[in-house]
Amino acid sequence: MEVLGIDIGGSGIKGALVNSLTGEMLTKRHRIPTPEGRKPKDMANVVAEIVKHFKHKGPIGVGFPTIIKHGICKSPGNLHKSWLGMNVKELFSDATGLPVTVVNDADAAGYAAMNYGIGKGKQGLVVMITIGTGLGSGAFFDGELIPNFELGQIPYKKYKKIELWAADSAKTREGLTYQQWGKRFNKFLKYVELIIAPDLIILGGGASKDFDEYKDCITIETPVVPAQLQNQAGIVGAAAAALHQAPRD
Ligand code: BGC
Repeated sequence: MEVLGIDIGGSGIKGALVNSLTGEMLTKRHRIPTPEGRKPKDMANVVAEIVKHFKHKGPIGVGFPTIIKHGICKSPGNLHKSWLGMNVKELFSDATGLPVTVVNDADAAGYAAMNYGIGKGKQGLVVMITIGTGLGSGAFFDGELIPNFELGQIPYKKYKKIELWAADSAKTREGLTYQQWGKRFNKFLKYVELIIAPDLIILGGGASKDFDEYKDCITIETPVVPAQLQNQAGIVGAAAAALHQAPRD
């Protein structure tokens, strides 16, 4: 089935047509910067623009960077606070006139890894960690999603949540090298290991493609691997989520 996968992030909104059965991207990705302020109407307009770009008429799967329950935003994460309580599914369906499925962005990236990538067939507790504006987490047990894990929300020292200190955005904001940032990220992974004892951690998001630059900083016992689909996992997974989740919505 041809699905438009859209990955919404704090800095960019990216889309591509995907064969949701095979996970193959059928077009190049189209990226539009996330509007400043990260407010609902402005972001819905960008989603509509991406649909127009692809002249798409079918289903849409969206990976959204907040807790999402039955299409509703339950915590605004790094977006504008007016997202809280918003029916994101309805907002985007109205803006595009098309059927929309919305899931958490890291859950979407996890879908891609578990269905078409390095997580395929992996049993036990597998966690996708996305490294971007925030730290996202998508947890799977024996291949089944446990939605809305929020491991980036662990408080750390003076920080309300550890992602403010250890996400890719902190690296950029503070001008850290990969080695300096890698030590912070390893600290975060230590908490993840201590709290949920996963069997495998898969890394997604922008920084996953530079894994070689910081892999020596990672000292936890749990195996940590970059997603093969890297940054495309968000788009492909959003499309896959539309296929898996739509019947449950
Ligand atoms: C949000 C998560 C999201 C992550 C990555 C966090 O701030 O709370 O829901 O998955 O950012 O975008």
